[in-house]
Amino acid sequence: MSKQPNAGLSRRAFLSGAGGAMAAGSVAAALGAPARAQAVTPPAGAWPIPVLNPDAVRDAGYFGYWTNDPYRSTNYGCAYGVAGALLGEIKRGLGPGSPWEMLPLEMFKWGKTGCVETGTLCGALAGALPIFALASPAYEVEMGGDLLRWYQEAALPSREMDYLDPKRRYPNQAQSVSASPLCHVSVSSWCKASGKLSSSTDRKTRCGKITGDVGKMAAIILNRLVPGQRYVPIYGPPPELYAECVHCHIDPPPPPTPDQVRLTNSLGVTNCVTCHPDSNPVMGKR
Ligand code: HEC
Ligand code: HEC
Repeated sequence: MSKQPNAGLSRRAFLSGAGGAMAAGSVAAALGAPARAQAVTPPAGAWPIPVLNPDAVRDAGYFGYWTNDPYRSTNYGCAYGVAGALLGEIKRGLGPGSPWEMLPLEMFKWGKTGCVETGTLCGALAGALPIFALASPAYEVEMGGDLLRWYQEAALPSREMDYLDPKRRYPNQAQSVSASPLCHVSVSSWCKASGKLSSSTDRKTRCGKITGDVGKMAAIILNRLVPGQRYVPIYGPPPELYAECVHCHIDPPPPPTPDQVRLTNSLGVTNCVTCHPDSNPVMGKR
């Protein structure tokens, strides 16, 4: 069952777009070039999305986090966990032959530990955003904005996976509000709140649960997509805490004369105050 207009896209129609590429392949073969795997062309526009079960995505995300990466002898982690859980639920809902079968899970693992272990964007978020872009190329920013806003303001991890994993029992873990989409800030604020080490199984379990929580929220956001309609965001404009910062430092001045200071010297809306705690929300009016 799909909600998207191109849901009827059959595997045959989907593969026929690859004709040109295959013809080019046989020319190459005739010229003695090595034979290529059969090429496929992804469908244009929004990829079909079935109605998702957010709790099923959550639980699959938690376990996906712990899946072993045989190439690196460690667990695949958060980005892989979220992407795998969403793709699993999408493919289950659409049945065989959907374009989502083209995506190998390996392509998402780089998000672990804040994107190639740099502590930048939380990998759980990095696992969901590419799925948003394919499900709704027109509204991925609004959908991603909802996910990042929720992530910055929610007390995480939730307690919903406390008794899910018989191998790792860490119920009632400390919760923290990261006020940032960054892995480093999120993990370190939690280590501060919990008193646990970043290398501990407690912390890994906390990130496994956050993988589940982010997967669930991403599924809730995907379920808000209505084919052919504008995505209606969950959140409004930036919260008061940094709305004024955005107003002076990001919004362009209105023509013909600015009503007040508009520097327009910054880009990208996340919680400014986390990194600039000493900045005054009315600094330009001093
Ligand atoms: C009314 C407009 C206005 C608002 C609101 C505003 N700023 Fe500014 N901001 C300025 C001006 C003007 C400067 C000085 C620019 C200069 O001298 O080049 C400045 C400077 C800065 C600087 C440079 C270093 C410093 O502290 O002086 C940072 C960082 C900054 N603002 C962040 C923020 C943050 C974060 C917020 C929200 C909490 C914020 N600003 C709200 C106008 C504003
Ligand atoms: C992840 C942390 C982080 C966040 C979030 C963040 N900033 Fe910054 N910002 C920095 C860093 C680091 C610098 C570079 C500081 C420096 O070189 O002194 C900077 C520089 C700036 C500067 C130039 C400072 C100067 O000395 O002139 C401005 C203005 C600024 N940020 C505004 C903002 C506003 C407005 C927001 C929210 C929309 C924001 N920042 C969010 C980390 C952050």
